[in-house]
Amino acid sequence: MLYFDKKARLYPLDSQALHPYNVERWSPVTKSRMITNGRQYFAVPKSELNPPPPTAIADLEELQSYFFSEQAVEAALAVAPELLGRDDSGSLIHGTTGARAFTEALGRVAAGPGDSFLDIGCGCGLPVLVASRVLGRAHGVDVVPSVIRFAREAASRFHSQATFAEADIKEVRMETYDIVYIAATTFSDELRASIQEKLAELRAGAIAISLTYSFSCPHLVLVDSFESPFAWWKTSAPSPHRFYIHMRRAE
Ligand SMILES: C[S@@+](CC[C@H](N)C(=O)[O-])C[C@H]1O[C@@H](n2cnc3c(N)ncnc32)[C@H](O)[C@@H]1O
Repeated sequence: MLYFDKKARLYPLDSQALHPYNVERWSPVTKSRMITNGRQYFAVPKSELNPPPPTAIADLEELQSYFFSEQAVEAALAVAPELLGRDDSGSLIHGTTGARAFTEALGRVAAGPGDSFLDIGCGCGLPVLVASRVLGRAHGVDVVPSVIRFAREAASRFHSQATFAEADIKEVRMETYDIVYIAATTFSDELRASIQEKLAELRAGAIAISLTYSFSCPHLVLVDSFESPFAWWKTSAPSPHRFYIHMRRAE
């Protein structure tokens, strides 16, 4: 039997163990995972779900070290004074999601060629470059010009199709993307509230992957959650970070 957990993504199931599930009562930290056929939601034991193995990325470790370089740190710290004067300047604190942890997140949503990807608050761009290795095209936006310059140079250096734009998350349109990433760890309550509202723009079945905070609202279903360790900086010790996977509900 085949079911999908997002548009056009088929998962083979070993058994018929599908239990219709009340999404309002779903807790993702269980031994089962929620999948949908677009109309109903089902709980399936994780042991019975066979998502495709994550795509192997040949230069993953090289990418990771490049984003731990002195130049990346310089770009991240070069926040323009006018941006530091913003009310939400705390949201501008930079850090890079670990490449291996992020690859695991992409694997869990069975991301593949043809999916469109957006990182809102992309920083120096490591998740976007990783996504472009798996999907082809991937896009990142950030309000800090120095990180966008770094990200564009990195894309060219690593022959990636990743693209970047300088923009405020609040202005970004999301409706054309299949997978949106939100490394929300340092985002203010207010920024997270406006992102939550914007996620309603996604088409039914699109995926929002977030880090540290989940988004709880009527238009999203939390379908999965997992922890994976990584270090934000070269000098910091790896620690577990929690990812949340949401799906845009059908109306
Ligand atoms: C913790 S970093 C994450 C970088 C990248 N997503 C990653 O996971 O590796 C958060 C980024 O969000 C950006 N950011 C914060 N508020 C923003 C806003 N309102 N518009 C655009 N970018 C924003 C910051 O400049 C920073 O680069």
